[in-house]
Amino acid sequence: MDVKGKVVIVTGASSGIGEAAARAFAREAAKVVLAARRVDKLQTLADEVNAMGNGAQAFVVQADLSKLEDIQSLVMQTLEKYGRIDVLVNNAGFGRLDWLENLDPIKDIQAQIDVNVMGVIQTTRQVLPVMMKQRAGSIINMCSMAGLVGTPTYTIYAASKHAVHGFSEALRREVKPWGIDVSLIYPGGVKTEFSAHAGIKRKTNAKTPDFMMLTADEVGSAVVKLVRHPRGMLVIPWLWNVTVFMNKFLPGLVDYTTINRFTIPEREDELNAK
Ligand SMILES: NC(=O)c1ccc[n+]([C@@H]2O[C@H](COP(=O)([O-])OP(=O)(O)OC[C@H]3O[C@@H](n4cnc5c(N)ncnc54)[C@H](OP(=O)(O)O)[C@@H]3O)[C@@H](O)[C@H]2O)c1
Repeated sequence: MDVKGKVVIVTGASSGIGEAAARAFAREAAKVVLAARRVDKLQTLADEVNAMGNGAQAFVVQADLSKLEDIQSLVMQTLEKYGRIDVLVNNAGFGRLDWLENLDPIKDIQAQIDVNVMGVIQTTRQVLPVMMKQRAGSIINMCSMAGLVGTPTYTIYAASKHAVHGFSEALRREVKPWGIDVSLIYPGGVKTEFSAHAGIKRKTNAKTPDFMMLTADEVGSAVVKLVRHPRGMLVIPWLWNVTVFMNKFLPGLVDYTTINRFTIPEREDELNAK
């Protein structure tokens, strides 16, 4: 699918990957619908897009993706404005990364499921009849390495991204005959506001090595490429496929390494206290 002139909804366009993806679509003269809660940030991006002078347009819709009525309104406003939806990028999401018993049942656990899982499902459910009628469309779901490999402190986040993985895989096989592509992208670490909201506390210095960290622009460009060349599964950077392979075929080794190099050193004080 050529991106020029296409109507593209990007959720979570107020920062990070969503903002970068929306900008990348706009650089290719798309009509981008920017959705998130922070409307001031969306408006700043919309002003930038509308000033590009290449035919790109931006339309701002304030939406809390954990609320069905906001999702319905997002789709309705997009149709009123442009009359069609060519691309949906389900990107809005966040992680709260702590030991399970430390996570608040509502603010951390329920909220992650509401946005990362229900937000993706309900937005897709609202957009799908439009794309089926058009007999064309592209849905790109923002997964994560956590959607393939579960690691300590990522319990709920990993559950949410594994759900996105399963949902997207099944959907891809449902909608392909209607000319609709469903792509999944699994980035490793990306330099965005994500960690500022995640509440990460570490005793060890375990983190993604710098050379494996991506910029939001790199992921944003990869999202645009997926519209032209849909892929059931795109892991970036490619090297993370080694971890995915190990987790699938040598899970005992991954357990042993993770528990001994991360969980026990991180929790040593608590373990000794008991
Ligand atoms: N950064 C990473 O290392 C990484 C790696 C793999 C995958 N991802 C995934 O990439 C996606 C984007 O994350 P990011 O790294 O770009 O983080 P980010 O900069 O914090 O962006 C998150 C976006 O999601 C939006 N959002 C959060 N809750 C929302 C809600 N209830 N309603 C509507 N929008 C909401 C935020 O907008 P408002 O706050 O304005 O609503 C913001 O635009 C997420 O799905 C994340 O899981 C991130």
